[in-house]
Amino acid sequence: MNMRIPTLRRDDDCDELAALCKAGGDPLRLKVLRVLASDSFGVLELAQIFAIGQSGISHHLKVLAQAGLVATRREGNAIFYRRALPAAAGFGGVLRAALLAEVDALELEAAIRARIAEVHAQRAAVSRDFFSRMADKFQAQQDLIAGLPQYRDSLLALLDALGFSGTASALEVGPGDGALLPELARRFAQVTALDNSPAMLELARLRCAREGLENVELKLADALQDEHGGADCVVLNMVLHHFAAPAEALKRLADRVKAGGSLLLTELCRHDQAWAREACGDLWLGFDQDELARWAAEAGLEPGESLYVGLRNGFQIQMRHFAKPPTAGGRRPAPAPAPATPLNAV
Ligand SMILES: C[S@@+](CC[C@H](N)C(=O)[O-])C[C@H]1O[C@@H](n2cnc3c(N)ncnc32)[C@H](O)[C@@H]1O
Repeated sequence: MNMRIPTLRRDDDCDELAALCKAGGDPLRLKVLRVLASDSFGVLELAQIFAIGQSGISHHLKVLAQAGLVATRREGNAIFYRRALPAAAGFGGVLRAALLAEVDALELEAAIRARIAEVHAQRAAVSRDFFSRMADKFQAQQDLIAGLPQYRDSLLALLDALGFSGTASALEVGPGDGALLPELARRFAQVTALDNSPAMLELARLRCAREGLENVELKLADALQDEHGGADCVVLNMVLHHFAAPAEALKRLADRVKAGGSLLLTELCRHDQAWAREACGDLWLGFDQDELARWAAEAGLEPGESLYVGLRNGFQIQMRHFAKPPTAGGRRPAPAPAPATPLNAV
């Protein structure tokens, strides 16, 4: 008979294990972990979600952080709490994984879900308000960070490598002033563009009229509420960092990708330029590459090719392709030859 001989641990490993047990030993902390499963929130937001005082929630977050279960991410002056990634070879890994698996099976009570929706609505309102105020200065604001001309060629190379047929459809989420629409209109039989800002949509409409884009349908809609029937290619160009809950948004937008189709995402890599929140209405200061890949996987998408472009102003852009698996007998675009992926400054 095979007997597993436990590895002897150091004395301070016992403290780590105790911290983990302590963190899991409170119903509210378990709910905090559940809420942070695919989202991140600030202390005040969590206090609102759990309807308790700031000092109370701070105490619980401290206990969770001491157990290595939550970590912080700084977004300008604000600090957001998220689930910590497991340490590569940390002690307590089995207990931690089991605890989180049980936590993820918890159903959140309706009042908590309602207050999460309230927090998301408050964040979304900040973003909507920004675009309604800033439409006339939109291009100048975009150029502060990354204008489309700086990465257009790379993005189109990635798109063209996906080899869509002449009958394929595209859905652009948040087209802004529509700078990408002429390129999409050339490549797809039908393009739908959803934007929730009337002012931005008007700019896109003017561009479509100017360029005679007859296969583009513009819709004033919140992309997360709209029941669009789906497209072969869903494009998010510099939009995700304006969404209140990006992981959840990615999940909903992945549902809009037809089986065998693609989601093409252009985003800023993580940065620490806090002024972008004020100047460009960004809710999130870019995203980690791994974080996007994890959210895409949770949304049922498979990773494809990626391109990274470094800009002279220090920002880095990631262009990511994610594929939706085909259903049995479904179509899937021919795999693209891997483009080179240098961090080429432009
Ligand atoms: C930074 S602009 C990007 C515009 C364009 N894709 C580009 O790169 O030039 C973000 C756009 O997303 C839109 N947007 C933000 N949240 C949205 C939502 N929930 N549904 C639809 N559009 C949204 C904004 O109104 C804005 O036009």
